[in-house]
Amino acid sequence: MSLKTSNETCRSWASADLNQVPHIVVTPPGPQSRSYHSRCTKYFKGLSGQVKLFPVVFASGKGCVLTDVDGNQYIDFSSGIYVTTLGHCHPKVTEAVQKYAGLLMNCHDFTTPIKTRLMEKLTEILPGDLSGFQLYDSGTTAVEAGQRVCRAATGQHEMISCFYDFHGKTYGGVSLGHIRSKVYGPTRAPGFHMVPHPNPYRPHWTKADGTIDTDRYIAFYEEYLDRGTAGQVAAFVLEPIQGWGGSVIPPDDFFPKLRKLCDRNKILLMCDEVLTSMGRTGKWLCSQHWDVLPDVVTLGKGFGNGFPVTCVAVREPYKESFESISASSSYGGNPMACAAALASIEAIEEENLLERSVHLGEIALTRMEKMKKEHPIVGDVRAKGCLMGIELVKDKATKEPLNKAGELVYQKAFRKGLAWIPAGHILRMSPPIVMEDDMLGKGLDMIDEAIGETEKELGYA
Ligand SMILES: Cc1ncc(COP(=O)(O)O)c(C=O)c1O
Repeated sequence: MSLKTSNETCRSWASADLNQVPHIVVTPPGPQSRSYHSRCTKYFKGLSGQVKLFPVVFASGKGCVLTDVDGNQYIDFSSGIYVTTLGHCHPKVTEAVQKYAGLLMNCHDFTTPIKTRLMEKLTEILPGDLSGFQLYDSGTTAVEAGQRVCRAATGQHEMISCFYDFHGKTYGGVSLGHIRSKVYGPTRAPGFHMVPHPNPYRPHWTKADGTIDTDRYIAFYEEYLDRGTAGQVAAFVLEPIQGWGGSVIPPDDFFPKLRKLCDRNKILLMCDEVLTSMGRTGKWLCSQHWDVLPDVVTLGKGFGNGFPVTCVAVREPYKESFESISASSSYGGNPMACAAALASIEAIEEENLLERSVHLGEIALTRMEKMKKEHPIVGDVRAKGCLMGIELVKDKATKEPLNKAGELVYQKAFRKGLAWIPAGHILRMSPPIVMEDDMLGKGLDMIDEAIGETEKELGYA
């Protein structure tokens, strides 16, 4: 792959020649992909929808480009699954992991110099008095630990979360989220409650002018706390922007009002920022967009930029609660993990990537607004930094979801050379925040074309 510097802000290590990328040498999934996939999936079961709809087999990744086993090259609009925020194999992160893979892999939760440096760096970048930390190896385990801290800090046990939220796949995570299974029975443990999420495109309550009425949501939550719970609520837990729910951004006045509601009712605010933190939306924490300080925050995915490392961060008054939850784990805070997290943070600082994420989000939103005007099936578009979504509907007036179009657009754009993430009728995009402007534009071109072709196929054009 040849290197070029096509605009001032590009990161040269991650840039690629757009005359050569994407590069499709054989219609994907090609013969090598099909062969590996059928051999592997004889044994490896339970695949995501992303893979089932497009079973390509990847061989390597560099920056924002993925290469499959047939030699096809794709622009990456998925970052794994919101994970490789700095692109694939960022040299600084790779070097850090390699160093500790040869020096010290694990010493349980003993202090190490690299962990000490990570702790100090976290207090430097995170807002307010978020200064108590514990480290884990997946978003789900961080969410579980976050809940335990909330319970320990308040002496209460109930949890409130929002419709369509996603918080991982253990019993505690599933109890907070929307995952359902007809096969294995009830998925919500006692003491978990869900309330409507303020989705401006699909509001439950509106003002006279038709826009979302945040006050009605807050009033409902307040009434629910009083009437619907046992009065033992530890925390309100939510994603600041719903990732799996389809990049759903709440109205600007929501978080400040929710913070006040939590304070009035003496419950903690826990933001699950596994997906939204570390530059994905243009800030270290997404909740900073609304100047709101959560009591407990989970960090994951881009935190280690591909290395499995996650974190629970709590405010000063709740730090000691970690002592009573048996917080440590086998892999949490191992030296390789700490090195990956520290290197990722330093790369974001050195390369001004928070600003870059905001910039890319602005370009994408302008372009997606145009798609919304031009395409009859594009009902809504949204972006905050490099967290983006396009909602496909049968009719812009009824907003009825068009699931078939979601699948078709995903597959058509993938065949053109765009690796990305489907979610029913909502197209979700999470390009690495190191992407160049023109590569972002090229990826959006492919989506635009795929939407047009899908409209023709389904009789909308
Ligand atoms: C908001 C949120 N919380 C928790 C999780 C679970 O993270 P992991 O898959 O690393 O366990 C995810 C994963 O997508 C997520 O998006």
